[in-house]
Amino acid sequence: MIRVGIVGAAGYAGGELIRLLVGHDGVALTTLVSRTHAGKPVSQVYPGYYGYDLPHFREISMTNLAYECDLVFIAAPSGAAWPLMKDLVSMKPGIKIIDIGSDLRLKDPSLYRKWYGYEHGAPELLSQSVYGLSELHADEIKDARLVANPGCYPTATILAFAPLVRYGMVSMDSIVVNALSGVSGAGRTPGLGYHFPECNENMRAYGLLCHRHVPEIEQELAAIARTGGWDDAVNLSFTPHLVPLNRGILVTAYADLGNDLSGDSCLRDVNRDLGISLDTPGLTEIYRSFYKGKRFVRILPPDEVPQTKAVAGSNYCDIGVRVDERTGRVLVMAAIDNLVKGAAGQAIQNMNLMFGEPEDKGLNLAPFWP
Ligand SMILES: NC(=O)c1ccc[n+]([C@@H]2O[C@H](COP(=O)([O-])OP(=O)(O)OC[C@H]3O[C@@H](n4cnc5c(N)ncnc54)[C@H](OP(=O)(O)O)[C@@H]3O)[C@@H](O)[C@H]2O)c1
Repeated sequence: MIRVGIVGAAGYAGGELIRLLVGHDGVALTTLVSRTHAGKPVSQVYPGYYGYDLPHFREISMTNLAYECDLVFIAAPSGAAWPLMKDLVSMKPGIKIIDIGSDLRLKDPSLYRKWYGYEHGAPELLSQSVYGLSELHADEIKDARLVANPGCYPTATILAFAPLVRYGMVSMDSIVVNALSGVSGAGRTPGLGYHFPECNENMRAYGLLCHRHVPEIEQELAAIARTGGWDDAVNLSFTPHLVPLNRGILVTAYADLGNDLSGDSCLRDVNRDLGISLDTPGLTEIYRSFYKGKRFVRILPPDEVPQTKAVAGSNYCDIGVRVDERTGRVLVMAAIDNLVKGAAGQAIQNMNLMFGEPEDKGLNLAPFWP
């Protein structure tokens, strides 16, 4: 059994980890940390756990975590995780950590000051960690001790664009992303903007031109492009919106297709290599071949669209692509459950990889509908 601890276990991402891990038969949940609810049974915070055999919430103690756990999930706010990880690693160098927040995601420490407004106090951890987008980095994750679990918007956006940037099919500075998120994306801590009468029957953009997920998406898409031999920087326009759902992220994004659909372009190379035409059915086939064997990424046929309800409660990322021959642009759509593929589910997928378990263990979750 993998002995697992969760810091931030009473928050939404931590709570979702509990939900999924009680169904994982290779895990013993040893340590559930909540500073606010220390001493209480889990069912006092999440009533659905009445009758479950779970440890009570506890105060945070690095000694307990180091002693009791093989792996610790940290589901704390940005800037709160790096001091904990620094202490844990120095106390028990072999411990495995998956940070569900952002403190391991950016490779350049100076970006934390610019985008997050704090100084990263343990930059040495950044170079030791692996970006945990399971479908794209499984081999590195298998050998990792520290994993940066991707953000929810980055998960959907990077999976949506990975084939396009890998094959150099789009102009890297032309990517425009509109993304919608349900309210659980903001966490359990109350705030006026997330108060029911304020956000129900309402939709609004936020984080304009400065959302913290921009550098993460640019960093990872540029890295994928480099593996295909494309060195252009990725410049992203990204606008998130809050919508009145509990769970769910829907990304609708556009980019200019490469130079010339008929000319001597990378598009023609892909076309030649894969032997398919670059219309919507052809691009759909390219996506299917790129994600072959990745059971949590579902490439939808051209007559269907990704929708949040079709992935709710599951670890799926549904993707749909269209070639707009009139404008020379590609339209990509992706839907995930922010708390599952966007947080806890992907974290468990990464844990499975790190411990040599089947990647989908404990994640055989059909979406709930309605
Ligand atoms: N919600 C999502 O959809 C989602 C998706 C992907 C990633 N994430 C990331 O996951 C992390 C947690 O998000 P969330 O939505 O679960 O937030 P949340 O519901 O507000 O929970 C965060 C928890 O962190 C704990 N915490 C706060 N400050 C801490 C500190 N200094 N040290 C230790 N624990 C501390 C708090 O627990 P106690 O006061 O009880 O200790 C709180 O319950 C964030 O970094 C977030 O960006 C969230």
